[in-house]
Amino acid sequence: MHNLDRYTTWPMFARDIGPDSGSALSTQNLYGVHPFYMCIESDGKAHGVFILNSNAQEVETGPGPHLLYRTIGGRIDMAFFPGPTPEEVINQYLQHIGFPFLPAYWALGYQLCRWGYGSLDAMKTVISRNQAAGIPLDVPYADIDYMNHYEDFTEGDNWSGFPAYTQQLHNQGLHLIVIFDPAVEVDYSSFQRGINADAMFIEWARDDQVPHNIQDQYPMAKNTKIMLGNVWPERNTAFPDFLDTQNNTNVWWAGEFAQFHKTLPFDGMWIDMNEPSNFDTGTYSSMEEQLANAKLSCPISGPDSSLDVPPYPTQAVYQRSGEYLFSKTLCMLGKTARRSRNFYDTKNLYGWSEARATYQAIPQVTGKRSAVISRSTFPSSGRYGGHWLGDNTARWEDLQTSVIGVMEFNMFGIPYVGSDICGFNGVSNEELCLRWHQFGAFSPFSRDHNSEGMPDQDPAVWPSVANAARIALGFRYYYLPYLYSLHYNAARYGHTVIRPLFFEYPKDEETLEISEQFLWGSALMIAPALYQGQTTVHAYFPSDTWYSLQPETYGQKMFSGFNDVNAPLSSLTPVFVRGGFILPRQAANTTTTASRLNPFEVLITVKTNAASSGELYYDNGDDIIPNDNIEQHPRVHWQFSFTSSIVGGVFTGNCETCSTAVKPPTLDTIEILGYPSAPNFSGFKLDGSSVTLDMSKTSYDASTQRVMISSKNLISLMALKKKFTLSFSNN
Ligand code: GLC
Repeated sequence: MHNLDRYTTWPMFARDIGPDSGSALSTQNLYGVHPFYMCIESDGKAHGVFILNSNAQEVETGPGPHLLYRTIGGRIDMAFFPGPTPEEVINQYLQHIGFPFLPAYWALGYQLCRWGYGSLDAMKTVISRNQAAGIPLDVPYADIDYMNHYEDFTEGDNWSGFPAYTQQLHNQGLHLIVIFDPAVEVDYSSFQRGINADAMFIEWARDDQVPHNIQDQYPMAKNTKIMLGNVWPERNTAFPDFLDTQNNTNVWWAGEFAQFHKTLPFDGMWIDMNEPSNFDTGTYSSMEEQLANAKLSCPISGPDSSLDVPPYPTQAVYQRSGEYLFSKTLCMLGKTARRSRNFYDTKNLYGWSEARATYQAIPQVTGKRSAVISRSTFPSSGRYGGHWLGDNTARWEDLQTSVIGVMEFNMFGIPYVGSDICGFNGVSNEELCLRWHQFGAFSPFSRDHNSEGMPDQDPAVWPSVANAARIALGFRYYYLPYLYSLHYNAARYGHTVIRPLFFEYPKDEETLEISEQFLWGSALMIAPALYQGQTTVHAYFPSDTWYSLQPETYGQKMFSGFNDVNAPLSSLTPVFVRGGFILPRQAANTTTTASRLNPFEVLITVKTNAASSGELYYDNGDDIIPNDNIEQHPRVHWQFSFTSSIVGGVFTGNCETCSTAVKPPTLDTIEILGYPSAPNFSGFKLDGSSVTLDMSKTSYDASTQRVMISSKNLISLMALKKKFTLSFSNN
């Protein structure tokens, strides 16, 4: 919730700058731009407004309340979303900008990354010590270290054996994601192939602006107007023009991935530095000065400077002294979209266009469903990839704001999101890293990531963190079928995966300010510990039925209102389930590849005088969804319901869409929380026939009102079934 009693100006211009949660209120622009807001009025009704514009822009919020919008170019399309519930506002917004992609199932597993593995051996050491510690782990990463001198689509000397190692990971059911930066060095084969294919790179507007003293050092770039910059590679780089109207650039880009994939069979793509970021962009006032500069420089006087130094450059520039629109990026006078547009107008679309090009390359690269993670985003980026919240700091404040970031990106249609667990910059510590894992296990994108030169912070470094990570990730893996079903609902219908409490309880004013608790869908509430030294969480329970899922208080009903709940370092973070729901789950293994083959279970939570309902989406996990047409995608999608009365209970399933191409495991276990009487376990009937239950796993506990029902192959969820009814009476 924003404070509208004071005047605040929010610049929006994609920028390579990490979130700053250390100061009281940082209004600096981040990596992406999302000109969208939602407002809840005093009657609890919500509406949303989207202003489609890709230029440098800013929003001022303040008393009244009022909102003032300024942009310095382009066109404005405005769309209003009437809600009236917050979830409906987002649903309407996503109908407008596009629904999110469905990540491969493995991409919902835990991911372990760092910048600064000096060699493949260093990476192997970290991965295997976490596997040895029993940490659930699906996705090891390689950062820019794996490249040869930071050139895309190459491997460095210390990384021989990387393809064989990748194969080994695949054999263990793991998947590999590696980083790619958009800027390519202008003196090697990838760039040459781009030139040969008439791919476009961001260019100067005219040849007399080109600093030929640098340009001409590169035979491949010599006779071009390509605007050279400096990013990670040792020599100058060019920035692919992913808005190329002839699409040659995207075809070349996909071809580079496909060719490299033949050498290194990676599974997912991490695209970074795509604001786009350029190091140390300087200034010039005359051509002599331009030629004297070693780095990319942009004009700050004369007729060519009109785009780089516009009359009002927005707060993006005024926040730091000595800055320009081009600071840390390319000159605004650059040309994109095959010379038809000014970079001034399209800069904010750079990460979006790279994500689109990368996502569209997947069918010819891996041929399987995958995951793309992008740093810079714009409305509809969620169609093509997810997002990590960028270069945060190993600080408690950054853990706290991560919760908000994850909720916000769900509102932006990018539900596959998370923060760098344990913190990227700075030195992390045991308690922070432990708490961050307890929270991060509940981010849709769950990845530990660390900066170069920082001490290791993978869970195996500290036994206590390893223990907490095993527990938190074990819970995540157990409930992944529920999380995946939420992602399906996002991809098919445009829903959020992570929700602030007010999305489900908009009329409960208390929920409007809660930014440290959140929900998975409608049913699971997480109240993580986010402060140093904290042992309890002062958690809010909206008026409803809530059951604890923490082992120490499992199945207990929670009082409505604020409750202090224990948040142990050595146990599960506070997690609660709402009455009236049915959640699918599968026993956890240390990979999702293994866990998705385990028998299904459902957790049914009873709410007095109400039926319970829920659903299960299951598919082949990593098959491509042609043309993103999820309606046609082979799947089984079950709708479950449970009703009970004083005489007994009825659990039914209806397969809404059933494909014989998908073979889900059987549903073997049903757990019911809040069931007031003992069922007669010898009288269970499935579609009218008697069922024999496994009495070693079947029980009723009158004090906790918990029912466990289990039998091997109890209910088939295969397509042929279409529906089932399991009924029982009480003793
Ligand atoms: C950027 C990314 C970070 C990455 C680093 C090196 O700072 O945001 O995640 O580790 O570059 O590639």
